[in-house]
Amino acid sequence: MSAGAIRRSWRPAARIVLWQFEHGAVGPSARQITTLSGLSLPRAVQAEAANRVIGLPWAASRLAASSTRGSLTLPHIRLASNSSALRSEDEDKDESLELANKNSDKGDLVRSNYWGITPKENLREDGTPWPWNCFRPAQTYTPDITIDLLKHHKPENWEDRLAFWSVKALRVPTDLFFRKRYGCRAMMLETVAAVPGMVGGLLLHLRSLRRFEHSGGWIKALLEEAENERMHLMTFMEVAKPNWYERALVVATQGVFFNAYFLFYLLAPRVAHRFTGYLEEEAIYSYTRFLEEIEKGNIENVPAPAIAIDYWRLPKDATLKDVVTVVRADEAHHRDVNHYASDIRKEGKQLHEAPAPVDYH
Ligand SMILES: [Fe+2]
Ligand SMILES: [Fe+2]
Repeated sequence: MSAGAIRRSWRPAARIVLWQFEHGAVGPSARQITTLSGLSLPRAVQAEAANRVIGLPWAASRLAASSTRGSLTLPHIRLASNSSALRSEDEDKDESLELANKNSDKGDLVRSNYWGITPKENLREDGTPWPWNCFRPAQTYTPDITIDLLKHHKPENWEDRLAFWSVKALRVPTDLFFRKRYGCRAMMLETVAAVPGMVGGLLLHLRSLRRFEHSGGWIKALLEEAENERMHLMTFMEVAKPNWYERALVVATQGVFFNAYFLFYLLAPRVAHRFTGYLEEEAIYSYTRFLEEIEKGNIENVPAPAIAIDYWRLPKDATLKDVVTVVRADEAHHRDVNHYASDIRKEGKQLHEAPAPVDYH
């Protein structure tokens, strides 16, 4: 294929990237993570770019040898940040080539990034690379496992009783469905537990925008709760794998529960927080039963998933029992936050009138 034909055949996105290469907006001097992967360029174009822009003749020759059209599957090529302009271009190329060759053995694909955004690299305290991109070291924490697990808000009026008995009623089908499969039960319930915080945070966010008022930190507190619940799910899915009908159940439940809770919170936020408080009380009960089954040996006390060790700063030899213990402490914290929120509303105040318990996590 001639160069002219190649240029005429380039798709718009590819043309933009190549224009940037030619005008120096992206290239070795810009020293960004660069790739053509995913643009589905003709191999000849990729080869040209690999040679001219990335400066990897070996990649160019490899690509030129291929006659089919497809994505550029160069190994991961990391060119350093813009701030290291004092280094020579040759040094950069050598470094890139060395890294590219090293990574080619692993078969990593290059990610497209011509926006100049390089994610911050994190390390563990012992200097080893941070393996998670779903949370950062600053978001990890040590839960307060001394929290009172038996605290219970006694229903004081008919709305409280409605919230209390609604949660009790929801437990019946849950008990029937899962029985003593606590790992699976925990995983499935976390898919529901992560919804109220997100709905509350969303609606408070919209209220803040609508009414030109601060949230008192409650948006952050509720979104933190939702994220923490989602991390519970990310942890338990390492222990229990859902089958197809359990996944279908999650989809159906989420469709119903999200919309119902959204309306519920819109109409009666005080009762919605009370409902969530009682839901968390039930979660504490479920995790206590889970721990009992582990202690009796009915559930194997397997090593804790790696994600849990980093997220809760657990010791390296932590087990499932340790994980359930810290998750239960989180649920107790959610319980207190939601009952507290409901109590603030009960006094006829808006949440922002009382400072939110932020930064627990
Ligand atoms: Fe949870
Ligand atoms: Fe919770």
